[in-house]
Amino acid sequence: MYQCNLYSNVVSALLLASIAVSSTALAQIDTALGPQLNIGHRGASAYAPEHTFYAYDLAMEMDVDMLECDLFLTKDEVLICIHDSTVDRTSDGSGRVQDFTLDELRALDFGSWFGIEFSSAKIVPFEEQLDCYLDHNPLMRFHVETKDSAQGRAEAVLVEVLARKGLLDTGDIQTSTIVMQSFDASSLERIKQLSELPTAFLFARRTSFELLQWVASGNGPDYIDAFAPNSAAIFNDPTSVQRFHANGHDVHTWTVNERTQMDYLLALGVDAIFTNNPDILRAAIDDKGSGTSPEQRGNPSDFKRGCQGIAGRVVSNKGPGDVWARRDSGRGVVRVEKAAASDLTNYSGPRGGD
Ligand code: G3P
Ligand code: CA
Repeated sequence: MYQCNLYSNVVSALLLASIAVSSTALAQIDTALGPQLNIGHRGASAYAPEHTFYAYDLAMEMDVDMLECDLFLTKDEVLICIHDSTVDRTSDGSGRVQDFTLDELRALDFGSWFGIEFSSAKIVPFEEQLDCYLDHNPLMRFHVETKDSAQGRAEAVLVEVLARKGLLDTGDIQTSTIVMQSFDASSLERIKQLSELPTAFLFARRTSFELLQWVASGNGPDYIDAFAPNSAAIFNDPTSVQRFHANGHDVHTWTVNERTQMDYLLALGVDAIFTNNPDILRAAIDDKGSGTSPEQRGNPSDFKRGCQGIAGRVVSNKGPGDVWARRDSGRGVVRVEKAAASDLTNYSGPRGGD
C-alpha cells in the first residue's frame, strides 16, 4: 500500500511539474538539431495504397527524405512492409501475416481496397524497398519499425539482412541510411545489443512510470537516440521538444497531414515529421527554409515506376538482393553505393555483429 501511494504521489508530482512547464512556454520556439526531415508514412499513403511501390514511388516524387517500413516477419521469416498484423484491411485476403509465406502473400492484391486502378499492387519485401529506392537514389533513407518482435527473431533477422547488405553502419540518427523505430523499448534495446543502428522510441500516451520519467526529464536510456511522440503528445506538452533537445535527443513526430499542424510543429523545432502527404510537408519545410537541400536528398526528377527489375525477386532472407557500401558523398552526407559482396568488410557491432 505504501509503495502504491508513493508511486502515485511521484507520478502526480511529475505530471504537475510537466504541465506547469508546458503551460508557461507554449510560445517558445526551438531549433531542430539538424535539417527538418520529411518522412513518407507508409509511402505517400494519402494518395496510393500504403506500403506498395505505388505509394513509395509517389513519396520519392514528392521529395521525401525518408521512407517508412512497418516490419513483420512472414511464416518463412522474410521481412515485409505491412502495418497491420493481418492482411484483412489492405488486401483481398484474410488472416494473420505470420501465417502466410512470402509466396502466398505475393498472390494477394494489396491495391484494390484503395482504388481499382491499383489492383496490380503487391506486397513489398523490405529488402526490395531498400534496393529499389537506393538504386534510384543512393541518399534515400529508411525509417523502419518493428511491429512484432516475434520473440526477438525480427530484430535478429533485421540485423542479419542489413549486415549482409552493408547497411548497418552508415551513420548516426541524422545521417544513417537506416533508423530503427518501435513502440516496444525492449525491441530497441535488442537492436542496440546487436548493432549500432540509430533508434527512435515511439509513444503516444505516457503509459508507464518509466516513460513519464523520460518525458519529464527529456532523457532516457542509452539505447534510445530519438524520441518519437505522436503529434498530440507534443501539442499537450510543447516544451518536451526542448527537453529532449537539451539532452541531445532528436524528436520525430507522427502522423501529421495538415499544413497548420505541420507549421506549428516545425516552429517548435521537431527534427522529423511522418506524413501521409509528403507534398504538403515538403512545401511547409521549404517555405520555412529549414530542410535538406535537393542535392542532400538526391531524389531523381524522373525514374522508372514500379521498381522494375527488383520487384518480385527476393525469395528469402538470403536475397537475392544488392549489397551496398558506405561512401562519402562529398557534401557532408553519407551515401551508400552498390558494391560487390566481396567489398563488404565484416561488420563488428557492439556484441560481435552479424
Ligand atoms: O511509426 C510512426 C507511426 O507510424 C506510428 O504509428 O500505427 O502508423 O505505425 P503507426
Ligand atoms: Ca509506423
